[in-house]
Amino acid sequence: MALAMSASSLLAGAPLLVACGDSSSGPSYSQWAATDGAAGRINLDDVQEAFKESSSATEFESRVNKIYEGDGIILIRSRQDGERLTLEGWEDLDNNSQIDDATDDQLFAIIKEDEQHQLRGYHANSYYNSHFGAGDFLFTYLIFSSLSRGPYYYQTGPGRATTIRQDRSSYRGSSGYDSQLDRNRQYTSRQQTFAGSRYQEAGRGVSSGRQTYQQTQRSSGGFRNSSSITRSSSSISRSSGIGGGSGSTISRSSFGGFSGGGGRVNFRNDPDSDGWTRPAWLA
Ligand SMILES: *[C@@H]1O[C@H](CO)[C@@H](O)[C@H](O)[C@H]1NC(C)=O
Ligand SMILES: *[C@@H]1O[C@H](CO)[C@@H](O)[C@H](O)[C@H]1NC(C)=O
Repeated sequence: MALAMSASSLLAGAPLLVACGDSSSGPSYSQWAATDGAAGRINLDDVQEAFKESSSATEFESRVNKIYEGDGIILIRSRQDGERLTLEGWEDLDNNSQIDDATDDQLFAIIKEDEQHQLRGYHANSYYNSHFGAGDFLFTYLIFSSLSRGPYYYQTGPGRATTIRQDRSSYRGSSGYDSQLDRNRQYTSRQQTFAGSRYQEAGRGVSSGRQTYQQTQRSSGGFRNSSSITRSSSSISRSSGIGGGSGSTISRSSFGGFSGGGGRVNFRNDPDSDGWTRPAWLA
């Protein structure tokens, strides 16, 4: 049984039965916690491509938010420290449209130093560390377009966050999102193959902000409303019209045949167990 517990419930020290939930009425907490969105995993190959191709900070923000599958939006901020430039992406777990280091979760950072770029993942993404060469990319644009005199020369503003939330919500109902989910699935298999044990270990490095978030979602039952989960079952549920953005309601009947694997987890609909098959990389 201990092996069947998710990393987060181990950290939280919570009894497994709490995590099991009522499996007849939809996804269990464990099922939710195993999704990429709940864990804070993101397709960093696509983030890298978005970085290389974006010509403005708002374009980059928008693209990253379409790649990600979690409920919170991704906020970015960028700063300069001597010759070193850093751009960070955080999930806004407390949903207040600004980055709070203590309560939100950093997913990645892109660092430019000596004309070299590095994209490194944090927490559940910490298996990822990729170097790529010179190029002007987004940083040049950011610095020249910056009006800020504070420590950060770019930060997603609250007004932008509202726009991102709206855009992403409609995007999640589109076929473009289905294609993105396919790309995310392929990315995950590649990483599981090539990063192997580092991929598995990264899943245990949950930030305190995310631990709190997961505990809150568990105790409030908010995980049942998660778009990560509706999306996980999108192959069955899309026709029932619940594939929408965050806040969409999960209808019980849609989960009668809950067996999808969109969140890279193959769920079993077995009311006598905690209802899910542990993915190899969480072992
Ligand atoms: C986040 O806050 C916005 C309002 O600022 C609200 O519309 C949205 O439903 C909230 N999202 C979640 C997941 O609570
Ligand atoms: C889940 O969604 C329903 C319907 O939108 C809402 O009434 C309920 O408060 C939500 N539950 C949580 C815990 O967020």
